[in-house]
Amino acid sequence: MNKAMLVFGTRPEAIKMCPLANELRSRPEDFETVVCVTGQHREMLDQVLGVFGVKPDYDLHVMRPGQTLFDITSGVMSKIKSVLADERPDVVLVHGDTTTSFAAALAAFYLQIPVGHVEAGLRTRNLYSPWPEEFNRQAVDVISSWYFAPTETSRQNLLDEAKPGDRIFVTGNTGIDALRTTVRESYSDPELGWAEGSRLILITAHRRENLGEPMHRMFRAIRRVMEERPDTKAIYPIHMNPQVRKAAHEELDGFDRLHIIDPLEVVDFHNFMARSHLILTDSGGIQEEAPSLGKPVLVMRDTTERPEGVEAGTLRLVGTEEPTIYREFSRLLDDPAEYKAMSHASNPYGDGHASERIARILAK
Ligand code: UD1
Ligand code: UDP
Repeated sequence: MNKAMLVFGTRPEAIKMCPLANELRSRPEDFETVVCVTGQHREMLDQVLGVFGVKPDYDLHVMRPGQTLFDITSGVMSKIKSVLADERPDVVLVHGDTTTSFAAALAAFYLQIPVGHVEAGLRTRNLYSPWPEEFNRQAVDVISSWYFAPTETSRQNLLDEAKPGDRIFVTGNTGIDALRTTVRESYSDPELGWAEGSRLILITAHRRENLGEPMHRMFRAIRRVMEERPDTKAIYPIHMNPQVRKAAHEELDGFDRLHIIDPLEVVDFHNFMARSHLILTDSGGIQEEAPSLGKPVLVMRDTTERPEGVEAGTLRLVGTEEPTIYREFSRLLDDPAEYKAMSHASNPYGDGHASERIARILAK
């Protein structure tokens, strides 16, 4: 039997690792499963753990208000050492590109414990965009022994870096696994009731490199476009980062067709996406979920590591300059042909069975 330890700490990692944790735990004959959360996020992590019913065996409680990359890296490194040394798992599974994932992988490497990277091989090849995520995922891939790549493109990225082909498995993205069960026709919510009869715009923003002036520009563009179109309403479940909240309130307060609300639980968020007309975001995970739901996304970033969604037609990169966001957002609202071209559903990121595949591979 393998002892597998999953380590994660932020909302999106939890959304994508809880299905895998539950899959491994459903196979006690193959795995002893240990879940260690770093607590890089607190409220937003706990929301997800609650939804998936995952009870961590360890919680490192690293989150501090306004934490820096130094705080997270050193916090995880120092606190995870004894957990890894006591448990001595056969494999440490980390996810994607957060600082939790990087620090946990590095700690495992220092103890010579093999690492499996879930969502391996995504690349922009620009270390500063997204920052620090591009570094994190490349570094984790240097350390890893097993690569669970979501798509053929990500597999090819790994092969281009001379990673061993027999250690790379294309599994789909575990983030799509949850979508199979969360979106329901019958779903209702008072906020969706408020927006009924209008075109619903869903907004999220949090990237570190967008904090400050880029975020102000994004919000100003969104507000200008919506003020000119009275048939639109926006819901913005806001990230808990105080810097994001400050910028959003400064630019968006006093506009009554835009509601800023607390972060939604993932089941709610998926259903809000399914009811939306279009999405404006700088998120990674939302770029993967939107194609499955056939929802156009304007990606407020200069680069994306998710070219599959751009090729599928659902995603468009619009950067963070106010005139470009203003122009592209207006065009998508005003041009029905453009909207139609971006709103057909496809599944470039998987069929919703990624966790099962990863479990089968690990069991072997
Ligand atoms: C982190 C990840 C990013 C990921 C994002 C998902 C790093 C460096 N960044 O960025 O890759 O895309 O999560 O959302 O790993 N806060 C709370 N409660 C919470 C969560 C955050 O109060 O539940 C506040 C705290 O003040 C915290 C701040 O938000 O210090 C920033 O959190 P942090 O994890 O450092 O950065 P994110 O932007 O969330
Ligand atoms: N999400 C959520 N509640 C919200 C906003 C987003 O559950 O209010 C989910 C969303 O469905 C996706 C994930 O959070 O699965 C994306 O997380 P985030 O944008 O914070 O991080 P990223 O994917 O950019 O790393």
